[in-house]
Amino acid sequence: MPFKILEKKELVPTIHLMEISAPQIANKAMPGQFIMLRIDEPGERIPLTIADFDREKGTITMIFQAVGKTTMKLSNLETGDELLDLIGPLGNPAHIEKFGTVVMVGGGVGVAPVFPQARAFTEAGNKVISIIGARSSNLLLWEDRMREVSDHIHITTDDGTKGHHGFVTDIVKKILEDKTAVDRVVAIGPPVMMRAVAGVTRPFNVKTIVSLNSIMVDGTGMCGACRVLVGNETKFACVDGPEFDAHLVDFTLLMNRLAMYQPEEKVALEKYKCDREGCIC
Ligand code: FES
Repeated sequence: MPFKILEKKELVPTIHLMEISAPQIANKAMPGQFIMLRIDEPGERIPLTIADFDREKGTITMIFQAVGKTTMKLSNLETGDELLDLIGPLGNPAHIEKFGTVVMVGGGVGVAPVFPQARAFTEAGNKVISIIGARSSNLLLWEDRMREVSDHIHITTDDGTKGHHGFVTDIVKKILEDKTAVDRVVAIGPPVMMRAVAGVTRPFNVKTIVSLNSIMVDGTGMCGACRVLVGNETKFACVDGPEFDAHLVDFTLLMNRLAMYQPEEKVALEKYKCDREGCIC
């Protein structure tokens, strides 16, 4: 069954929003879960986190960055186009309960999956302190939506064009050093950022959860492509995660595995661009 794109827009340069009609997935989706999608018959399957869902409208929303061939191809679709297949919701929902004070950290496109969790933590009666960061102010995502679901919000930019000039970890550290009672930290973003957040919270012994974006093929526990090492045990991010205790994750292995197909991804992207733009190389 094809899945219709009801809305598609570029939120900030290279980062796109896509709302898709998928009533059965919307009906069961929970914060923290993801879908696997395929654009067309010869296309690869890619995982995307569900950034929002509307059970009444029967829609799910994904936010993605156009970085490789498939995400670039996805970004070139428009409202009214259809996707060949979509499966989900996959993965375990985020663990939401009343912990007390929860610090939500979102970096880059990672702000999108942080949003439904921040909303759910607020609805569960937590005090939510959000920290969202980007390289520059024009790449900041969903500041308005994050503000709506947070008690406090901090902005950081690497180049200082908005908020704190520096990294999200600087604010996490300051909050913990100020002796703010923090019961849980959730960090979603580039692996290097999640590793840095884990490094900051470890000495303070604050439970920290990260969502791992490992390479996936089937998303249902059969292929082993998404394997990660957590507490020296092999886990599959798709069925055991995607969320894990940040203090137990082997981030070096995660990053090495994510880089494994970079040469092939580069060639595929260049070929796609050439085919689309008709270059003569
Ligand atoms: S994606 Fe295949 S086992 Fe997780």
